Amino acid sequence: MARTAPSFVCQNCGAAYTKWQGKCESCSEWNTLSEEDSAAATAVPANLRPKRKGRLFTLENFTGAIQDAPRLPSGMAELDRVTGGGFVRGSVLLMAGDPGIGKSTLLTQATSLLARAGHRAVYISGEEATGQVRLRAERLGLADAAVQLAAETSVEDIIATLSEGKPPRLVVIDSIQTMWTDTVESAPGTVTQVRASAQALIRFAKRSGAALILVGHVTKDGQIAGPRVVEHMVDAVLSFEGEGSQQFRILRAVKNRFGPTDEIGVFEMTGLGLREVSNPSELFLSERDLGSPGTAVFAGIEGTRPVLVELQALVAPTSLGTPRRAVVGWDPSRLSMVLAVLEAHCGVKLSGHDVYLNVAGGLRIHEPAADLAAAAALVSSLSNAALPVDGVYFGEISLSGAIRPVAQTSARLKEAAKLGFARAVVPERPRGESSGDGGLSLTGIGSLTSLVAEIAMRGKARKQA
Ligand code: TYD
Ligand code: MG
Repeated sequence: MARTAPSFVCQNCGAAYTKWQGKCESCSEWNTLSEEDSAAATAVPANLRPKRKGRLFTLENFTGAIQDAPRLPSGMAELDRVTGGGFVRGSVLLMAGDPGIGKSTLLTQATSLLARAGHRAVYISGEEATGQVRLRAERLGLADAAVQLAAETSVEDIIATLSEGKPPRLVVIDSIQTMWTDTVESAPGTVTQVRASAQALIRFAKRSGAALILVGHVTKDGQIAGPRVVEHMVDAVLSFEGEGSQQFRILRAVKNRFGPTDEIGVFEMTGLGLREVSNPSELFLSERDLGSPGTAVFAGIEGTRPVLVELQALVAPTSLGTPRRAVVGWDPSRLSMVLAVLEAHCGVKLSGHDVYLNVAGGLRIHEPAADLAAAAALVSSLSNAALPVDGVYFGEISLSGAIRPVAQTSARLKEAAKLGFARAVVPERPRGESSGDGGLSLTGIGSLTSLVAEIAMRGKARKQA
């Protein structure tokens, strides 16, 4: 029989090695390898393997009855928006986020609402004592909800308890990194334990029809296994994001077998828990610095919903040989591209300047349509010319400096009009249908050069005045 070789498993991505090494070749993280007895945990000795013949099952066609996934709405519109309409029976959802971002708070609220609606909702806390969880519920004004609560970490005990009586509709495991199962020997929090515990809980969810939510902490130092090791086993991965210093929280679907992956849910952390924000634009624009150079409002689309957000840029002379480029909330390579186009086609010299770009409110933008707003903010800061406070920008910049049309023009314009904006700088040729502009005065531009010229003129006029 082959001797089991020692196995070193990356606590970040789960890659296994026979020898220890400082850097994981799979995910490029340092110091994340630790020794685990994974071979012994998974392999069943040949003499113990069951000797039964495989069971026969029927094979079907693509044609046939399709059942809609039975959903359980949570009662929180922003959460349902991200899951695609509620929790699906027998499905497993991973809620990932930094410690302290508000995962336990959100799930305490969600389980309470379901319990109030008469469903059996279970909250298993592996991190906090029941007293602490109760204290939180009390603070949230939810102490009266009939959530079934326990502080447990043994997967076998949890499954045995939940299998009693009426099957639960929703089970929250907070967090998967504290769970352990007898079937493997590794310590809680290691890749092998997290995987085995998740597998056992997922099997229970599929069997009982309960919707299961696993909470997973994201850690940068790899001390405990990251949620990535269970991402492929679950049906949906929701990531809860936000800047610690700000009260906005954004819930984003990273993977979703039962719904869209581009929707976001917006929440505000208050003294009374998470408040849903049904109109994010109002929130993101609430603390605008009116009339100062370097800011531009971007009319974006997040999922099916238009979202207006302020982009802030600072372009300052540098004394460094290699100037700084720092971005928060946007793709750094996208910024480099916009800067390169400004240099190459518009004669805007930025190599002697540090450049900072920030998306206000902690939102992370993924759309290329933000190019034009970013460029406007950058040029505005460089030429010290404020942009009109009642204007919005959107459009994609191509490498040639042309402004390319983007999708959903009219939804963006309508949202801007609703929030009191009066004009919009947009691509010259709108894509496809142009069904209404919401009454905004539109400036269509064909190339970045004309935008730069227009902003520079404002700067000059301001200096002369
Ligand atoms: P928590 O849900 O415990 O975070 P996680 O489970 O993701 O680690 O929330 C932690 C933070 O939220 C904590 O710093 C306190 C803050 N908070 C509020 O501001 N208001 C509240 O009503 C609650 C319950 C928490
Ligand atoms: Mg928590």
